[in-house]
Amino acid sequence: MGYAMAERLARGGCDLAVWNRTKEKAAPLAKHGAKVVNQLEELSTKDIVFVMVSTYEDVKAVIAQALAKGQPKMVVECSSISLEGSAELRKSLSAKGVEYLAAPVSGNAKVIKAGKLTFVVSGPKAAYEKARPYLDMMGAGSSYVGEGELARIAKICHNVMLGVVIQNLCEITILAQKAGMPRHAFLDFLNKSVMGSMFTRYKTPALVNLDFHVTFTPKLLRKDLDLGLEAGRNFEAPMPLTSLTRDLLQQMIGHGMTEQDFSTLILMQAKAAGIELRSENKEVGDGLSS
Ligand SMILES: NC(=O)c1ccc[n+]([C@@H]2O[C@H](COP(=O)([O-])OP(=O)(O)OC[C@H]3O[C@@H](n4cnc5c(N)ncnc54)[C@H](OP(=O)(O)O)[C@@H]3O)[C@@H](O)[C@H]2O)c1
Repeated sequence: MGYAMAERLARGGCDLAVWNRTKEKAAPLAKHGAKVVNQLEELSTKDIVFVMVSTYEDVKAVIAQALAKGQPKMVVECSSISLEGSAELRKSLSAKGVEYLAAPVSGNAKVIKAGKLTFVVSGPKAAYEKARPYLDMMGAGSSYVGEGELARIAKICHNVMLGVVIQNLCEITILAQKAGMPRHAFLDFLNKSVMGSMFTRYKTPALVNLDFHVTFTPKLLRKDLDLGLEAGRNFEAPMPLTSLTRDLLQQMIGHGMTEQDFSTLILMQAKAAGIELRSENKEVGDGLSS
Protein backbone atom coordinates (compact mmCIF):
# COMPACT_ATOMS: atom_id res chain seq x y z
CA MET A 1 0.00 0.00 0.00
CA GLY A 2 2.72 2.42 1.05
CA TYR A 3 4.65 1.82 -2.15
CA ALA A 4 1.69 2.51 -4.43
CA MET A 5 0.76 5.64 -2.43
CA ALA A 6 4.33 6.96 -2.58
CA GLU A 7 4.47 6.27 -6.31
CA ARG A 8 1.46 8.51 -6.90
CA LEU A 9 2.98 11.33 -4.82
CA ALA A 10 6.28 11.00 -6.68
CA ARG A 11 4.58 10.96 -10.09
CA GLY A 12 2.57 14.01 -8.96
CA GLY A 13 5.85 15.90 -8.59
CA CYS A 14 6.09 16.07 -4.77
CA ASP A 15 9.38 16.67 -3.03
CA LEU A 16 9.27 13.17 -1.57
CA ALA A 17 11.55 11.14 0.69
CA VAL A 18 10.63 7.50 1.39
CA TRP A 19 11.74 5.05 4.05
CA ASN A 20 10.81 1.36 4.15
CA ARG A 21 12.18 -1.21 6.62
CA THR A 22 13.18 -3.44 3.70
CA LYS A 23 14.85 -0.77 1.59
CA GLU A 24 14.98 -2.83 -1.65
CA LYS A 25 11.18 -2.79 -1.85
CA ALA A 26 11.16 1.02 -1.95
CA ALA A 27 14.19 1.35 -4.25
CA PRO A 28 12.22 1.45 -7.57
CA LEU A 29 10.51 4.64 -6.35
CA ALA A 30 13.75 6.49 -7.10
CA LYS A 31 13.01 6.29 -10.82
CA HIS A 32 9.84 8.34 -10.25
CA GLY A 33 11.84 11.06 -8.49
CA ALA A 34 11.53 9.99 -4.83
CA LYS A 35 14.58 10.02 -2.56
CA VAL A 36 14.77 6.62 -0.85
CA VAL A 37 16.47 7.21 2.51
CA ASN A 38 18.42 4.80 4.75
CA GLN A 39 17.33 6.19 8.12
CA LEU A 40 13.82 7.01 9.29
CA GLU A 41 15.21 10.06 11.10
CA GLU A 42 15.85 11.61 7.67
CA LEU A 43 12.09 12.14 7.30
CA SER A 44 11.89 14.44 10.32
CA THR A 45 12.75 17.57 8.33
CA LYS A 46 9.75 17.12 6.03
CA ASP A 47 6.55 19.18 6.37
CA ILE A 48 4.28 16.12 6.33
CA VAL A 49 5.13 12.51 7.17
CA PHE A 50 2.68 9.90 5.88
CA VAL A 51 2.78 6.59 7.77
CA MET A 52 1.60 3.31 6.24
CA VAL A 53 2.75 0.18 8.12
CA SER A 54 0.77 -2.66 9.75
CA THR A 55 -0.40 -2.60 13.37
CA TYR A 56 -0.41 0.07 16.08
CA GLU A 57 2.79 -1.38 17.57
CA ASP A 58 4.52 -0.88 14.21
CA VAL A 59 3.10 2.64 13.87
CA LYS A 60 4.38 3.55 17.34
CA ALA A 61 7.83 2.14 16.59
CA VAL A 62 8.28 3.98 13.27
CA ILE A 63 6.95 7.30 14.56
CA ALA A 64 9.21 7.18 17.64
CA GLN A 65 12.19 6.59 15.38
CA ALA A 66 11.17 9.20 12.82
CA LEU A 67 10.90 11.83 15.54
CA ALA A 68 14.04 10.82 17.42
CA LYS A 69 16.17 13.69 16.12
CA GLY A 70 13.72 16.29 14.87
CA GLN A 71 10.11 16.73 13.99
CA PRO A 72 7.93 17.28 10.96
CA LYS A 73 5.04 19.78 11.05
CA MET A 74 2.45 17.06 10.58
CA VAL A 75 1.99 13.29 10.76
CA VAL A 76 -0.77 11.71 8.65
CA GLU A 77 -1.29 8.14 9.83
CA CYS A 78 -2.92 5.91 7.21
CA SER A 79 -2.59 2.35 8.61
CA SER A 80 -5.69 0.62 10.01
CA ILE A 81 -5.27 0.97 13.78
CA SER A 82 -7.53 1.15 16.82
CA LEU A 83 -9.25 4.24 18.12
CA GLU A 84 -7.32 3.95 21.39
CA GLY A 85 -3.96 3.64 19.65
CA SER A 86 -4.75 6.62 17.47
CA ALA A 87 -5.78 8.72 20.49
CA GLU A 88 -2.54 7.82 22.30
CA LEU A 89 -0.58 8.87 19.24
CA ARG A 90 -2.46 12.17 18.99
CA LYS A 91 -1.69 12.90 22.62
CA SER A 92 2.03 12.26 22.29
CA LEU A 93 2.34 14.15 19.00
CA SER A 94 0.40 17.19 20.17
CA ALA A 95 2.61 17.32 23.29
CA LYS A 96 5.50 17.80 20.83
CA GLY A 97 3.57 20.39 18.78
CA VAL A 98 3.15 18.08 15.78
CA GLU A 99 -0.21 18.22 13.98
CA TYR A 100 -1.84 14.81 13.55
CA LEU A 101 -4.46 13.47 11.19
CA ALA A 102 -5.98 10.01 11.34
CA ALA A 103 -6.38 9.11 7.65
CA PRO A 104 -7.06 5.41 7.03
CA VAL A 105 -7.81 4.30 3.48
CA SER A 106 -10.17 2.24 1.35
CA GLY A 107 -8.63 0.26 -1.50
CA ASN A 108 -5.73 -2.05 -2.26
CA ALA A 109 -2.53 -1.51 -4.23
CA LYS A 110 -4.31 -2.11 -7.54
CA VAL A 111 -7.05 0.33 -6.57
CA ILE A 112 -4.34 2.92 -5.83
CA LYS A 113 -2.77 2.36 -9.26
CA ALA A 114 -6.20 2.86 -10.84
CA GLY A 115 -6.43 6.21 -8.99
CA LYS A 116 -9.40 5.10 -6.89
CA LEU A 117 -7.98 5.10 -3.35
CA THR A 118 -10.11 7.03 -0.85
CA PHE A 119 -9.29 8.38 2.61
CA VAL A 120 -11.48 8.98 5.63
CA VAL A 121 -9.93 11.71 7.75
CA SER A 122 -10.32 13.13 11.26
CA GLY A 123 -8.41 15.68 13.30
CA PRO A 124 -8.11 19.47 13.17
CA LYS A 125 -9.91 20.83 10.09
CA ALA A 126 -7.07 23.30 9.36
CA ALA A 127 -4.56 20.45 9.26
CA TYR A 128 -6.86 18.52 6.92
CA GLU A 129 -6.98 21.46 4.52
CA LYS A 130 -3.16 21.52 4.41
CA ALA A 131 -2.92 17.76 3.76
CA ARG A 132 -5.84 17.60 1.33
CA PRO A 133 -3.96 18.33 -1.94
CA TYR A 134 -1.62 15.40 -1.22
CA LEU A 135 -4.47 13.09 -0.26
CA ASP A 136 -6.14 14.04 -3.54
CA MET A 137 -2.93 13.26 -5.43
CA MET A 138 -2.96 9.71 -4.02
CA GLY A 139 -6.44 8.82 -5.17
CA ALA A 140 -10.06 9.75 -5.65
CA GLY A 141 -10.34 12.11 -2.68
CA SER A 142 -11.04 12.11 1.02
CA SER A 143 -13.99 12.43 3.40
CA TYR A 144 -13.50 14.59 6.48
CA VAL A 145 -15.62 13.14 9.29
CA GLY A 146 -14.72 15.40 12.24
CA GLU A 147 -12.35 15.84 15.14
CA GLY A 148 -10.34 13.26 17.08
CA GLU A 149 -10.33 9.60 16.08
CA LEU A 150 -13.68 9.40 14.27
CA ALA A 151 -11.94 8.30 11.06
CA ARG A 152 -10.77 5.16 12.86
CA ILE A 153 -14.32 4.13 13.62
CA ALA A 154 -15.39 4.82 10.03
CA LYS A 155 -12.53 2.67 8.71
CA ILE A 156 -13.23 -0.14 11.18
CA CYS A 157 -16.89 -0.16 10.08
CA HIS A 158 -15.75 -0.23 6.44
CA ASN A 159 -13.46 -3.21 6.96
CA VAL A 160 -16.03 -5.12 8.97
CA MET A 161 -18.21 -4.80 5.86
CA LEU A 162 -15.30 -6.01 3.72
CA GLY A 163 -15.02 -9.19 5.82
CA VAL A 164 -18.73 -9.89 6.00
CA VAL A 165 -19.25 -9.19 2.29
CA ILE A 166 -16.38 -11.40 1.07
CA GLN A 167 -17.65 -14.27 3.24
CA ASN A 168 -21.16 -13.87 1.86
CA LEU A 169 -19.88 -13.49 -1.71
CA CYS A 170 -18.00 -16.79 -1.29
CA GLU A 171 -21.09 -18.50 0.17
CA ILE A 172 -23.42 -17.49 -2.64
CA THR A 173 -20.84 -18.18 -5.37
CA ILE A 174 -20.38 -21.73 -4.07
CA LEU A 175 -24.16 -22.16 -3.77
CA ALA A 176 -24.58 -21.02 -7.38
CA GLN A 177 -21.85 -23.40 -8.57
CA LYS A 178 -23.23 -26.32 -6.61
CA ALA A 179 -26.62 -25.67 -8.15
CA GLY A 180 -25.02 -26.05 -11.56
CA MET A 181 -23.88 -22.70 -12.99
CA PRO A 182 -20.33 -21.54 -13.74
CA ARG A 183 -18.96 -19.05 -11.22
CA HIS A 184 -18.13 -16.54 -13.96
CA ALA A 185 -21.74 -16.57 -15.24
CA PHE A 186 -23.18 -16.06 -11.78
CA LEU A 187 -20.74 -13.25 -10.94
CA ASP A 188 -21.34 -11.60 -14.30
CA PHE A 189 -25.00 -11.32 -13.37
CA LEU A 190 -24.25 -10.13 -9.82
CA ASN A 191 -21.75 -7.50 -11.00
CA LYS A 192 -24.26 -6.02 -13.45
CA SER A 193 -27.03 -5.97 -10.85
CA VAL A 194 -27.80 -3.38 -8.17
CA MET A 195 -25.84 -5.58 -5.75
CA GLY A 196 -22.66 -5.38 -7.83
CA SER A 197 -19.95 -2.98 -6.65
CA MET A 198 -16.36 -1.99 -7.34
CA PHE A 199 -15.47 -4.57 -4.68
CA THR A 200 -17.48 -7.49 -6.11
CA ARG A 201 -16.05 -6.68 -9.55
CA TYR A 202 -12.43 -6.56 -8.50
CA LYS A 203 -12.73 -9.77 -6.51
CA THR A 204 -14.30 -11.60 -9.47
CA PRO A 205 -10.99 -12.79 -11.09
CA ALA A 206 -9.96 -14.33 -7.75
CA LEU A 207 -13.25 -16.17 -7.34
CA VAL A 208 -13.46 -17.34 -10.98
CA ASN A 209 -9.82 -18.18 -11.73
CA LEU A 210 -8.63 -18.81 -8.18
CA ASP A 211 -5.96 -16.14 -8.53
CA PHE A 212 -5.13 -15.56 -4.89
CA HIS A 213 -2.25 -13.16 -5.40
CA VAL A 214 -2.33 -11.33 -2.07
CA THR A 215 -3.98 -7.90 -1.86
CA PHE A 216 -4.80 -8.12 1.85
CA THR A 217 -3.77 -10.95 4.14
CA PRO A 218 -6.23 -13.00 6.23
CA LYS A 219 -4.37 -11.90 9.38
CA LEU A 220 -4.76 -8.21 8.55
CA LEU A 221 -8.47 -8.78 7.95
CA ARG A 222 -8.71 -10.64 11.28
CA LYS A 223 -7.06 -7.65 12.97
CA ASP A 224 -9.75 -5.37 11.54
CA LEU A 225 -12.63 -7.66 12.54
CA ASP A 226 -11.14 -7.76 16.03
CA LEU A 227 -11.01 -3.96 16.05
CA GLY A 228 -14.69 -3.96 14.99
CA LEU A 229 -15.69 -6.39 17.73
CA GLU A 230 -13.76 -4.36 20.30
CA ALA A 231 -15.47 -1.15 19.16
CA GLY A 232 -18.83 -2.96 19.31
CA ARG A 233 -18.14 -3.93 22.91
CA ASN A 234 -16.97 -0.43 23.85
CA PHE A 235 -20.02 1.25 22.31
CA GLU A 236 -22.39 -1.59 23.33
CA ALA A 237 -23.43 -2.25 19.73
CA PRO A 238 -24.06 -5.93 18.88
CA MET A 239 -22.02 -7.27 15.93
CA PRO A 240 -23.43 -10.78 15.32
CA LEU A 241 -22.34 -11.17 11.67
CA THR A 242 -18.88 -9.86 12.50
CA SER A 243 -18.47 -12.47 15.28
CA LEU A 244 -19.40 -15.29 12.93
CA THR A 245 -17.19 -14.03 10.11
CA ARG A 246 -14.26 -13.64 12.49
CA ASP A 247 -14.61 -17.30 13.53
CA LEU A 248 -14.77 -18.48 9.90
CA LEU A 249 -11.65 -16.49 9.12
CA GLN A 250 -9.96 -17.93 12.21
CA GLN A 251 -10.69 -21.46 10.96
CA MET A 252 -8.98 -20.61 7.70
CA ILE A 253 -5.95 -19.16 9.51
CA GLY A 254 -5.92 -22.26 11.75
CA HIS A 255 -5.63 -24.40 8.61
CA GLY A 256 -2.45 -22.50 7.79
CA MET A 257 -4.01 -20.46 4.97
CA THR A 258 -2.30 -17.20 5.84
CA GLU A 259 -0.05 -16.21 2.97
CA GLN A 260 -2.51 -15.77 0.12
CA ASP A 261 -5.33 -13.30 -0.38
CA PHE A 262 -8.27 -13.22 2.06
CA SER A 263 -10.53 -14.28 -0.82
CA THR A 264 -9.19 -17.83 -0.20
CA LEU A 265 -12.27 -17.94 2.05
CA ILE A 266 -13.93 -19.40 -1.07
CA LEU A 267 -11.73 -22.51 -0.73
CA MET A 268 -12.98 -23.05 2.82
CA GLN A 269 -16.54 -22.55 1.68
CA ALA A 270 -16.12 -25.03 -1.20
CA LYS A 271 -14.63 -27.63 1.13
CA ALA A 272 -17.51 -27.20 3.56
CA ALA A 273 -19.93 -27.67 0.64
CA GLY A 274 -18.09 -30.84 -0.46
CA ILE A 275 -16.83 -29.59 -3.80
CA GLU A 276 -13.34 -29.27 -5.20
CA LEU A 277 -12.71 -25.94 -6.86
CA ARG A 278 -10.91 -25.57 -10.17
CA SER A 279 -9.97 -22.42 -12.03
CA GLU A 280 -12.50 -21.66 -14.77
CA ASN A 281 -9.67 -20.13 -16.85
CA LYS A 282 -12.05 -17.49 -18.05
CA GLU A 283 -11.06 -13.98 -18.97
CA VAL A 284 -13.04 -11.78 -16.60
CA GLY A 285 -12.60 -8.08 -15.96
CA ASP A 286 -11.83 -6.62 -12.54
CA GLY A 287 -13.49 -3.28 -13.22
CA LEU A 288 -10.18 -1.50 -12.52
CA SER A 289 -7.89 -2.26 -15.45
CA SER A 290 -8.60 -0.36 -18.61
N1 LIG B 1 -3.82 -4.25 1.54
C1 LIG B 1 -5.00 -3.69 1.60
O1 LIG B 1 -5.91 -4.00 0.79
C2 LIG B 1 -5.29 -2.64 2.65
C3 LIG B 1 -6.40 -1.83 2.44
C4 LIG B 1 -6.68 -0.80 3.35
C5 LIG B 1 -5.89 -0.66 4.49
N2 LIG B 1 -4.84 -1.51 4.70
C6 LIG B 1 -4.05 -1.29 5.93
O2 LIG B 1 -2.86 -0.63 5.51
C7 LIG B 1 -1.76 -1.05 6.33
C8 LIG B 1 -0.68 -1.64 5.39
O3 LIG B 1 -1.22 -2.75 4.71
P1 LIG B 1 -0.41 -3.52 3.55
O4 LIG B 1 -1.39 -4.40 2.86
O5 LIG B 1 0.42 -2.55 2.79
O6 LIG B 1 0.54 -4.43 4.46
P2 LIG B 1 1.90 -5.17 4.04
O7 LIG B 1 1.93 -5.43 2.58
O8 LIG B 1 2.03 -6.27 5.01
O9 LIG B 1 3.03 -4.04 4.29
C9 LIG B 1 3.31 -3.59 5.59
C10 LIG B 1 4.35 -2.51 5.52
O10 LIG B 1 4.67 -2.08 6.84
C11 LIG B 1 6.05 -2.25 7.10
N3 LIG B 1 6.20 -2.63 8.50
C12 LIG B 1 5.45 -3.51 9.20
N4 LIG B 1 5.86 -3.57 10.47
C13 LIG B 1 6.89 -2.70 10.59
C14 LIG B 1 7.71 -2.30 11.66
N5 LIG B 1 7.57 -2.81 12.90
N6 LIG B 1 8.66 -1.39 11.41
C15 LIG B 1 8.83 -0.88 10.19
N7 LIG B 1 8.07 -1.20 9.14
C16 LIG B 1 7.10 -2.09 9.34
C17 LIG B 1 6.48 -3.31 6.12
O11 LIG B 1 7.87 -3.23 5.88
P3 LIG B 1 8.66 -4.41 5.14
O12 LIG B 1 8.48 -4.14 3.68
O13 LIG B 1 10.04 -4.28 5.61
O14 LIG B 1 8.01 -5.71 5.59
C18 LIG B 1 5.66 -2.93 4.88
O15 LIG B 1 6.21 -1.81 4.22
C19 LIG B 1 -2.34 -2.06 7.33
O16 LIG B 1 -2.65 -1.39 8.53
C20 LIG B 1 -3.60 -2.56 6.64
O17 LIG B 1 -4.55 -3.03 7.59
C21 LIG B 1 -4.51 -2.48 3.78
